Amino acid sequence: MGGAALWLLLGVVPLAFGVAATPVQASRTHHYDFFIRETNVTRLCHEKAVLAVNGQFPGPTINARKGDVVVVNVYNQGHKNITIHWHGVDQPRNPWFDGPEYITQCPIAPGSNFTYRIIFSGEEGTLWWHAHSDFDRATVHGAIVVHPKLGSSFPYPKPHKEIPVILGEWWNVDVEKLLEETKRTGGDFNISDANTINGQPGDLFPCSKDGTFRVPVERGKTYLLRVINAGLSNDMFFAVAGHTLTVVGTDGYYLKPFTTGHVMISSGQTMDLLLHAINVSANRYYMAARTFQTNTELTVNNTTATAILEYTDAPPLTAGSPEPPVLPAVDDLAAATAYTAALRSLATVDVPTHVDEHMVVTISVNVLPCKPSNGDTSSCEGPINGTRFAASLNNVSFVASPTGVDILDAYYHSIHGVYTSDFPNRPPVAFNFTEPEPATELWYTDRGRRVKVVEYGAVVEVVFQDTAILGAEPHPMHLHGFSFYVVGRGFGNFDEGKDPATYNLVDPPYQNTVSVPTGGWAAIRFRATNPGVWFMHCHFDRHTVWGMDTVFIVKNGKTPDAQMLPRPPTMPKC
Ligand code: C2O
Ligand code: CU
Repeated sequence: MGGAALWLLLGVVPLAFGVAATPVQASRTHHYDFFIRETNVTRLCHEKAVLAVNGQFPGPTINARKGDVVVVNVYNQGHKNITIHWHGVDQPRNPWFDGPEYITQCPIAPGSNFTYRIIFSGEEGTLWWHAHSDFDRATVHGAIVVHPKLGSSFPYPKPHKEIPVILGEWWNVDVEKLLEETKRTGGDFNISDANTINGQPGDLFPCSKDGTFRVPVERGKTYLLRVINAGLSNDMFFAVAGHTLTVVGTDGYYLKPFTTGHVMISSGQTMDLLLHAINVSANRYYMAARTFQTNTELTVNNTTATAILEYTDAPPLTAGSPEPPVLPAVDDLAAATAYTAALRSLATVDVPTHVDEHMVVTISVNVLPCKPSNGDTSSCEGPINGTRFAASLNNVSFVASPTGVDILDAYYHSIHGVYTSDFPNRPPVAFNFTEPEPATELWYTDRGRRVKVVEYGAVVEVVFQDTAILGAEPHPMHLHGFSFYVVGRGFGNFDEGKDPATYNLVDPPYQNTVSVPTGGWAAIRFRATNPGVWFMHCHFDRHTVWGMDTVFIVKNGKTPDAQMLPRPPTMPKC
């Protein structure tokens, strides 16, 4: 595909809204049609059919302004159930259109359609959308760009162009097979074959050079890279050779700008980066992305995806390879930690100082006894004979599998027996969470559909605590329906007596996905002013399907504007 066509496809060319003479208005409604169908894609010398939106992989970019409404008609022309989630859009009072299957809706069946109404509020910057059913988001995803309201402006020098840079992963096998295998066993089967930038592995992979994503730039101009980590299983480092990056936003909120040689972006997060095209020592520079993972017991995809930054106003391109960037090593914990510690909200923010609900939530990879339907336990490949891998929060392995009714409907219609309102505020057993190799008894977990119910307006603090069960590793924890302040992060076991004193209550970053450090903890705070049913889970899909999830139910408040919107009659049936 030609460069220009690819640029158009990725929505780099700004849409022609906000043309002069439009009066300043509160909000606008934008319409999109998403046709989901099987599309043949060739990567790494293999052709396979993948689910894609409008034949595009990655899918189309959604453009809106702060406070707008976006209506997306989703037509499922594929062969399996699907849903779409608008990652990082708080959707005030509107859980109906949030998307996670069996949590807020029944899936859209093949041959049917569903219209999502997406309500934007405080977000401004880069978010994204993705399938929230099975592993479909591997190829069903795209960028959401939220521009400032008419009449207000980007708080940094206006970039010449804005470029979505979606980091992802590619598997040669079918992701439905991958899901089956992940549920059954775990193991190394789920390692992706390549990391990708805008769907392309780049020059370092076989049969990939022709497709490498290219970014034409002109000397002296500034570009806004809207980087999204859409990867299913990898946090990533990202860097551009010969250029530093100025970080100005994350997860749809602005940051105090800082300059860095590399970025660490967890699965689910976005980073807005200004790139000043001022280097003249070469014409072409690689931008590159590589996995960050500290659990050395895991086999990880340690490949490097590349794209090319190309100066179009330079003398004719020289032969040879573009300049390679300096990327931290796959397990460079110090580089990742230093980067994450530099994130600060642009302005001083209003962090709640009084907490109503204190929660400490342990994060574990576990085992469950394996009971295949045919009784054949030889297919179980858990770390103990006769077990399979599972995962939990506070030792509850969440069961998100098909039910006749989703959790939101069960709550709305007071249907009993679908979930229980007893998700614990503390782990059931206290142990030295981060000490390597905990006793085997601690590896086991219990299944349940236990949710946490909170009062409208309550201030919730969640301290996520990683555990060393089956090896400590970083977990990108994502909450639907809210952005939250990341008030603290640290290594080892959270100390309730000491660690809160280290919190940043002045200018913490406001995110929807927090990277809980390997063998450490991260503390978040939010005010529960969004009534509804909101999924919370690790954004590594294998952990999600293993049960590293729970649900917050935020009750209605007293006034009408503190209550969930009425149930749309169009909700799909299970
Ligand atoms: Cu980006 Cu629940 O997910
Ligand atoms: Cu995880």
